[in-house]
Amino acid sequence: MTTRLLLRPRPRRNRKSAAIRQAVRETTVGPEHFIYPLFVHEGEAAIPIGAMPGCFRHSRASLLQEVERAYAVGVRMVALFPAVDESRKDSTGTESYNDDGLVPRTVAAVKERWPDLMLVTDVALDPYSSDGHDGIVSPDGRILNDETVEVLCKQAVSQARAGADIIAPSDMMDGRVGAIRDALDAEGFTEVSILAYTAKYASAFYGPFREALDSAPKSGDKKTYQMDPANAREALREAELDEEEGADMLMVKPAGPYLDVIRRLRDETPLPVAAYQVSGEYAMLKAAAERGWLDERKVVMESLLAIRRAGADVVLTYFARQVGEWLAGEA
Ligand code: PBG
Repeated sequence: MTTRLLLRPRPRRNRKSAAIRQAVRETTVGPEHFIYPLFVHEGEAAIPIGAMPGCFRHSRASLLQEVERAYAVGVRMVALFPAVDESRKDSTGTESYNDDGLVPRTVAAVKERWPDLMLVTDVALDPYSSDGHDGIVSPDGRILNDETVEVLCKQAVSQARAGADIIAPSDMMDGRVGAIRDALDAEGFTEVSILAYTAKYASAFYGPFREALDSAPKSGDKKTYQMDPANAREALREAELDEEEGADMLMVKPAGPYLDVIRRLRDETPLPVAAYQVSGEYAMLKAAAERGWLDERKVVMESLLAIRRAGADVVLTYFARQVGEWLAGEA
């Protein structure tokens, strides 16, 4: 006879069958929570991104195809990132507010085909800047805040004019959310939302993204505007400001290594919280899966579940279409 522990509470009873586990599950993850980031360029071919297997610099045509596949499995929000030709870049990012530029034309094409899709556009100068910074660089190498915000407002209005539903400033300049809100409202775009990159960290996990867009800073780093990875309290201060300035949703980025920050924001703000599972997080999971070191589907689902459990309502993930397909296959 084995000894029996005198235990009244036995948490395992709530895990004894699939039916019970499903009934008591606290968190779910599905395509309705996703924003799918996609890269687009002017070329005719879809070019694979080295450190992001399965992701491409899309042509207009291949982008529409990818959106179609994602839409078919329930993804309803897409974020666009342009890889802009070097010849169009300059020190103040003027191409960022060209109404006839790559992003406005792509937005219009996508919205025409899927009017109910929520299109998110990125506001920042790095894809358009010959310096590869999110803001304008002064001759002595400083990133100029207020001068940059002026350009970001023009960029946001141009995107709204093209039909963008959600404007997502990722630049981390001070005061840009309020300024963009005012600029949008002044032009009559009161229904266009702002998804603020509230706590965007100066992270090395953005490496593959910068390769995808050819947007790495030519000199220096982004530490005078993006947040120090050591700080969490500071994220609450950013959140308070973005709320006051009229943001509709707040974002934490990266996601996986910053689950504590997601949770703190979730506890402090009534606004929806988004989290961005960035290119480096994608690359790590893909690389290990390709080597057979991790089970891709299981670790991807677990990583996204963890981000949702930490408190993210919305998750930006390069796995969006793939997860949609996995879940559709199960149904
Ligand atoms: C830049 C921007 C970056 C990402 C989104 N917008 C890179 C950066 O700040 O250098 C990163 C996304 C990713 O790594 O997946 N405005």
